[in-house]
Parts: sequence; structure tokens; C-alpha cells
Amino acid sequence: MARALLFQLLLLTALAAPSQGNHLGPTSRLRYSRFLDPSNVIFLRWDFDYKAEIITFELQVRTAGWVGLGVTNRYTRVGSDLVVGGVLPDGNVYFSDQHLVDEDTLEKDGSQDAELQRLTEDAVYTTMRFSRPFRSCDPYDQDITSDTVRVLAAYGPDDTLKLHRERTFVKSIFLLQMIQPDDLHVPEDTIIHDLELTDFLIPEDDTTYACTFLPLPIVSKKHHIYKFEPKLVDRSETMVHHILVYACGNASTLPTGISDCYGADPAFSLCSQVIVGWAVGGTSYQFPDDVGISIGTPLDPQWIRLEIHYSNFHNLPGVYDSSGIRMYYTSQLRKHDMGVLQLGFFTFPIHFIPPHAESFMSYGLCKTEKFEEMNGAPVPDIQVYGYLLHTHLAGRALQAVQYRNGTQLRTICKDDSYDFNLQETRDLPYRVEIKPGDELLVECHYQTLDRDFLTFGGPSTINEMCLIFLFYYPRNNISSCMGYPDIIFVAHEMGEEASDSMEGMMAMNNVEWTPENIKKAEKACKEAQQTVIIKTIDEIVENTTGWVPEITPTPRGPCSESSGGKVEPQDKAPAGFRTAPVALSGSSTATPRRLPLAALLLGQGAVSWLLATLQSRV
Ligand SMILES: *[C@@H]1O[C@H](CO)[C@@H](O)[C@H](O)[C@H]1NC(C)=O
Ligand SMILES: *[C@@H]1O[C@H](CO)[C@@H](O)[C@H](O)[C@H]1NC(C)=O
Ligand SMILES: *[C@@H]1O[C@H](CO)[C@@H](O)[C@H](O)[C@H]1NC(C)=O
Ligand SMILES: *[C@@H]1O[C@H](CO)[C@@H](O)[C@H](O)[C@H]1NC(C)=O
Repeated sequence: MARALLFQLLLLTALAAPSQGNHLGPTSRLRYSRFLDPSNVIFLRWDFDYKAEIITFELQVRTAGWVGLGVTNRYTRVGSDLVVGGVLPDGNVYFSDQHLVDEDTLEKDGSQDAELQRLTEDAVYTTMRFSRPFRSCDPYDQDITSDTVRVLAAYGPDDTLKLHRERTFVKSIFLLQMIQPDDLHVPEDTIIHDLELTDFLIPEDDTTYACTFLPLPIVSKKHHIYKFEPKLVDRSETMVHHILVYACGNASTLPTGISDCYGADPAFSLCSQVIVGWAVGGTSYQFPDDVGISIGTPLDPQWIRLEIHYSNFHNLPGVYDSSGIRMYYTSQLRKHDMGVLQLGFFTFPIHFIPPHAESFMSYGLCKTEKFEEMNGAPVPDIQVYGYLLHTHLAGRALQAVQYRNGTQLRTICKDDSYDFNLQETRDLPYRVEIKPGDELLVECHYQTLDRDFLTFGGPSTINEMCLIFLFYYPRNNISSCMGYPDIIFVAHEMGEEASDSMEGMMAMNNVEWTPENIKKAEKACKEAQQTVIIKTIDEIVENTTGWVPEITPTPRGPCSESSGGKVEPQDKAPAGFRTAPVALSGSSTATPRRLPLAALLLGQGAVSWLLATLQSRV
């Protein structure tokens, strides 16, 4: 009887739900999934409605106790949000929106912003499915943004809500990803080619960057690469940290063998145009249906540099690795050839970051007015569809901003909580057009509280980088466009003598890096004239100059009021043992109008009640 009622309710809500809310229905397929812990105990599925700004999570944990899912940050668990729920031994369900007041204590939020869709427990799993707005109006909820999100998951062996270090996990995930490979077209005549190391003995050092140069397949006519997939070997899987594939220009003479990418032989860092990136926790990447990397024509790259970053934290000896990237290509040509435009701060020691900096911003300017002249043919407007961000360990945030005729048009891409360990290609929610003449500014945000010495720009991990790769079509010959400030001006602003760039760089070592001087240097670097270096794929180089424009922050969108209504402080229900208030009528005005009916009805405790009824009768 209760089952029939549940079925009817589901049917009713499924029919009533507006079509764009399909992703958010209680039974619909959630497109994305990931394990959140190394032992594969916690499995997360998720999906979102980008327009309605609602995300749905389904957390499945091998436990009969409580489960929790939320968002935290890089520095502290305190203040993290955590939506918790579970099924009591008597079959009753509890569910609530909470936050961490210290490392292991939870407190219920005054505003309940998570909408329960389903909470079940069987012999193996507890499964909790709920939705929440990207941005609620509750200061205790962290926003879901297109930044890297540090997803916090926790569970307990029973229904006592207490965090325990061994059952609490944080994983960086790019939640708002735009394309799911399953939804994309797979050509019939796919050919596979592996770009991999062969029996590489992983050094016993903590960190190794191994590089080798590999040919792309030789094909007699034009083909398109349309997909990349990590190819990991069981034994070394936990040691492969990230993999980058760079396209080589024709002009370079490449070394043979495998060597340290950024070590004694600088030839092993040749080829700087990233075409795909994979990092721990990532999956495969497939290009949008209308884009591919062209191979087989004289204009195409013939070689790539494969860079594998190993983390051998336990210093294990004798581990051989043959990891790499599997690429899929086809003769069924797509509409566009993909191109890569590298933006940012020119990678060399004029880029400096002071030590002990809570925050230090660097800027690299690109002016596209010379693109036409350097390209050797007219440059059609560039349509950007994806990007990859790159700094080393001190990087905290990056963004690329576009200007036309002196006016800021938009932020093309940004990540305010960059994670070095999650360097992956990301698709933009819409295509961004860049016209010749536009200016593009990259801003990189660093933190060096743990460093005693200056950090300089350079390829090694002890150096820093500030790069954004834009993936676009139709392809042109420009490969990079990067800026750097007048270091002599900066030195003078810091009260140092300098008559050339070398002296300017050296002078930075004489500065006493107090917080005031750090701010002063940041300001001087921003106000200094920028030299913009533009390169083509054939390594033709030209330069121009410009000034760093102001960045007007994009205002954050409005927050979504909770549809559950405010829980007043005098509410005496014990934290965590109470479903969201069943105040359906009173709260309807506060419900965002785009919220599908299903989520609305099911979120109001109706389902918990139904499920509880069902279970107590089993
Ligand atoms: C690259 O080299 C190949 C073989 O040497 C040549 O045929 C091709 O024209 C070159 N491509 C460019 C863009 O210079
Ligand atoms: C910039 O402004 C000038 C003069 O108003 C105009 O001719 C030109 O088309 C503008 N450029 C772009 C890219 O809009
Ligand atoms: C690249 O440059 C060559 C001349 O060096 C030109 O013929 C070709 O059209 C350019 N390619 C594109 C895509 O603009
Ligand atoms: C910029 O270009 C000019 C003219 O081609 C050249 O003399 C100068 O050395 C270049 N400057 C830099 C910093 O590359």
C-alpha cells in the first residue's frame, strides 16, 4: 500500500516536473560519478541544472551509519558545510544541513538549504540523494562554482554524528563540468594509438618529472584526434600524479630517451603547447563533437612531448612504469581543427614572487593586434571552447580576462581555488569569441607563506609558472602570447639601483620582504609597462608593449533562498535528528520559481516519511 503510494507520488512528480529539470528528478540518471576515498567505500554521483543553478548529489557509502557530503576549502575544515543523513535502526530517517564548528563537531545550520530526494539503507549501503542551490543565502553553505571544489565526505559506523579522521575525505573535483563523454559521438573507424613510456624505472625521489618525445601516428591523409584517456599500470597507478601532452613545432630538434623534464638538459623541456592534461582523480577527455586535433597534413605537429609527474612518497625502489595517454583518432573529420593559444606571464626569472606572501598577484598581458601580420594569412575570429590552467605549487587562483577597445568584455575562465593536482582540460559552458585587436590578461594569485626565499619564474617545480591555455578553432599559426613587466621600473619603485633587466632581477634579492614591500612590489609590477612576446608555431617571435588594465570583478549572482524556510534558533529539535521542516504551504513563496516540482515536493520530508513508513513495515 505504501509502495503503491510512493510509486504514485514518483509518477505524479515525474510527470509534473518541467523538462529542463529532468536531471534533478529523484530517479533520473546523474551523469557524473567519482569515488571519493582511496578504498572505494564512498561513491558520489552528481548532476546539475546550470540555468536553474541547482546541483543534485547521490552519495553511496558502505555503512549502516550516518553519511555526509559537503564542501570545504584548502586551508581548514572549520566552517565546511556538510549535509548529513542516515536511517536509524528502527527505520526512521534523519537528514539535515550542517556545518563544522571545529575539526570534528557538527552544528545544524539555521537555514536548511538541502532538499532530500531519497535516503535508503540496505544490507551494504546507505544512499543519500539530495539537491541544493549552487549558491544559497546561508553563510554556512559554501558556494558551488566553476572553480575546483574540494568535496568533503564523511561517514560513521553508526548513527552518532561525529567526524572521525579515518572516515573523513576531501577530494578536489571540477563539479560543473560541461561535457560527459557518454553523451558524445563515437566515430566508427576509430584507431587507437598509445603515447607511453616503456619500462621506466621510477626514481626513489618524492617527485620526478619524466619526459620523452614520441611521434604521432603517420597517416597518409588528414585525421582527427578526438579523445584522450589515461593509461595507467596497476603497480604504479598510485604514483602517477599527472600527465601532460605537449605538441612540438617543426623547428625543434628533439632529444631521444627519457629524462628529467626540467633538469640538466634544457632540451627536455622543449615543446610548450599543451594539448591535453590529465591529473589524479581525472578521467578521459573527449573533444566536443565539432572539434578535433588535426594530424596527417604538413601543418600538423608530428611529435609530442609526454610529461609524467610521479610522486613516490614512500620512496619505493624498483617500480617500473609504462603509463601514458591513449589517444583515439579517426578519418571521419570534424568541422574544426583545434588550436591552442598559450597566455600568461612569460616563463623566465623576471617573474618573481616574494617569500612569506599571504597573497601576491602576477600579471601577463597579451595584445592580439599583431596576430594577423604574424600569421601569414588573415586570422578569423577565435572561438574558445575550453581551457587548461597551469601554475606550480604556490598557485592559488588564476583567471583570463578579455578586453576590447579598452573595455572589459568578460572573464573567459577562472578558478579561485586552483589545485595543482587537478590539471585537466575544462570545457566552457559557451564559446567565447576573440577578435584580432582584443587584449587578454592573465592574473595569477600565489601564496608563499612557507617559503624563505624568492621564487622565480621557470620550468622546475621549485620555480613558478602563470599560464592559461585556451583551446579554440579555427586554428591559426600563433602559439603563444605572453607578457612581463619592466623590471627596471619595478626595481626603482623598490628603491633599488638597476640599469638593465639582469640588474633589476638581481635587485629583488636585496629587498627586505616585509608585508608592505610585498604589496609595493605587486603594485609596481602591475603598473610597469608590459612587454608582450608573441610566438608562432614555427618559432617566429615578435613583441609589442602595453599596460595592465584594471580587472572589474564579475558580480556574484543572487543567492537562492532556502525553500525549507528558516529554522529559528528556539527550535529545540536535536541537531541532525530531524528532517527538513514540512512547511510546504508557508514556504512556497520563498521557493525559487525554477525549482522543479519534484524536488520541491520530495524535499519537504514527504519522501523521508514515506521511506520510513516503508522500512518499518519490511
Ligand atoms: C614540417 O616538416 C615537414 C617535414 O620536414 C614538412 O613537410 C612541413 O612542411 C613542415 N611544416 C611546417 C609548418 O613548416
Ligand atoms: C573599436 O572602436 C573603433 C572606433 O570606435 C571601431 O572602429 C572598431 O571597430 C572597434 N573595434 C572592435 C573590435 O569593436
Ligand atoms: C600559417 O602560415 C602560413 C605561412 O607561413 C600560411 O600559408 C597559412 O595559411 C597559415 N595558417 C593559418 C591556419 O592561418
Ligand atoms: C622587440 O622587437 C624589436 C624589433 O624587432 C627588437 O629589437 C627587440 O630586441 C625586441 N625586444 C624584445 C624584448 O624581445
